[in-house]
Amino acid sequence: MKKEERIKPIVMRFVVEQGNFQLAGEASSRIKSRLLQLGFSGSLIRRIAIATYEAEMNLVIHSYGGTIEAQIIPEIVTILASDTGPGIPDLEKAMQEGFSTAPEEIREMGFGAGMGLPNMRNCSTEFEIVSEIGKGTNITMVIS
Ligand SMILES: Nc1ncnc2c1ncn2[C@@H]1O[C@H](COP(=O)(O)OP(=O)(O)OP(=O)(O)O)[C@@H](O)[C@H]1O
Ligand SMILES: [Mg+2]
Repeated sequence: MKKEERIKPIVMRFVVEQGNFQLAGEASSRIKSRLLQLGFSGSLIRRIAIATYEAEMNLVIHSYGGTIEAQIIPEIVTILASDTGPGIPDLEKAMQEGFSTAPEEIREMGFGAGMGLPNMRNCSTEFEIVSEIGKGTNITMVIS
């Protein structure tokens, strides 16, 4: 394929701060609005919005902060969630429904059911999570 024939993705990138519940949900809601404008189907938007929101909340609640990036081409959206730590010690456990390390004050806010990561995987066409203690966690979700 010639270079000029490749589809150039629309890229949206957001910084997500640890503990900032005021701004929490902003990245996922902006991405959702853009997809609505672009005419993506409701069912696709729904899966992307859920997966992105769960990833964003995990950055706020469990990480030291990071970024959410959406790469949008027609019919395919790639969401990258990346943070700077602390990393996940046991990924297999973390991926299980109901597993959560969220403390009491976070549970009182309605989070901590341990459903975020399983939901992200269920909403994704391709799901990859890589985590290293002391380095951080990188999640790639391709949703189409
Ligand atoms: N970005 C992250 N950095 C460090 N730990 C994480 C991260 N994301 C998830 N975890 C760990 O994995 C566990 C499971 O995450 P998951 O999103 O499934 O549940 P939760 O956030 O605890 O609850 P819920 O998403 O249902 O509100 C978390 O409790 C936390 O221990
Ligand atoms: Mg979560």
